[in-house]
Amino acid sequence: MLNLPQRLSLAQRNTPLQFLPRLSSEVGCNIWVKRDDMTGCGLTGNKVRKLEFTLHHALSEGCDTLITCGGVQSNHCRATALLGAQLGMKVHLVLRGGPAEAEGNLLLDKLSGAEISFYPPREYIPNLAEILSHWKSHYQAQGNKAWVIPTGGSDGLGLWGYISCAHELAEDIAQANIKPAAIVSASGSGGTQAGLTVGVADAIGPELQVIGMAVSDDSAYFVNKVKEDIDDWRRRYGFEDVAWLDALNVSVNADYIGPGYGVAAQPVFDTIKRLAKLEGILLDPVYTGKAFHGLLSEIEKGRFAAGSDLVFVHTGGLFGLFAQREQLGLA
Ligand SMILES: Cc1ncc(COP(=O)(O)O)c(C=O)c1O
Repeated sequence: MLNLPQRLSLAQRNTPLQFLPRLSSEVGCNIWVKRDDMTGCGLTGNKVRKLEFTLHHALSEGCDTLITCGGVQSNHCRATALLGAQLGMKVHLVLRGGPAEAEGNLLLDKLSGAEISFYPPREYIPNLAEILSHWKSHYQAQGNKAWVIPTGGSDGLGLWGYISCAHELAEDIAQANIKPAAIVSASGSGGTQAGLTVGVADAIGPELQVIGMAVSDDSAYFVNKVKEDIDDWRRRYGFEDVAWLDALNVSVNADYIGPGYGVAAQPVFDTIKRLAKLEGILLDPVYTGKAFHGLLSEIEKGRFAAGSDLVFVHTGGLFGLFAQREQLGLA
């Protein structure tokens, strides 16, 4: 099995693999959830797993400042902001959209004391690289050393986070004595899927399919992005000539994006309510709600044999639910 490089110990690990008895009996497949929404309270979700490796690297490079970017309700930015506070580092967030009301993730960004710059999408999208490099130089001129973390923490460094999760999954699956038909998770910037794709092939076997449920762009975009992250990881760590990595299968389902990134249709909110009521598990409308809705829809369409074991990796995102509470229709 791949040896993990050094990391900081920031996430609550190992997370449980939980069986959902009531939902499973309703849908006719055995649904298991890898509870990565339990990696930490403020840190909930997948980002902290990647940041354990990324921040270890940043500190080893002598950095005292973190710069990263994302949407106004970015879970990755919130996790970076809180971890920066935990480690005594400065954090500067470059956010797409806003200024917006401080709620959900943005409220926590502000509480953590992160510096925040808002850019309208028409400026942010074409100029992101320049904006990040501007802020890096700004901190350099002040005598600080900044590490720039890409969108979602998805690159060859962060990829280790979900290789490590796949190693845990191998143990979970052996302990539960199951043979899953697929591992399913949400894909936003691709790093989680990239890490799982490598890690599952490494620790469980290449025949076990990892399916990324796209929440924004189309399938071609994600296949390309996941492969880019894997290539970046191979270059950084000297795995270019490892033959089994050439044969990895990247599987993306882009049928459940709905109206667009961050915007979900009513069935996603219905799925969120269904899971909360049936199993006491909370999903969000941007990532996990869409992906889980996609999984249930695929089961309904007969994509998996009745009685199959299916593992959903719950990547967190709870604070995004508060930012869209009106759509739940519960007031
Ligand atoms: C809650 C949540 N789930 C899933 C994802 C997708 O992970 P990735 O960006 O690694 O594709 C993200 C971030 O984009 C997220 O915040």
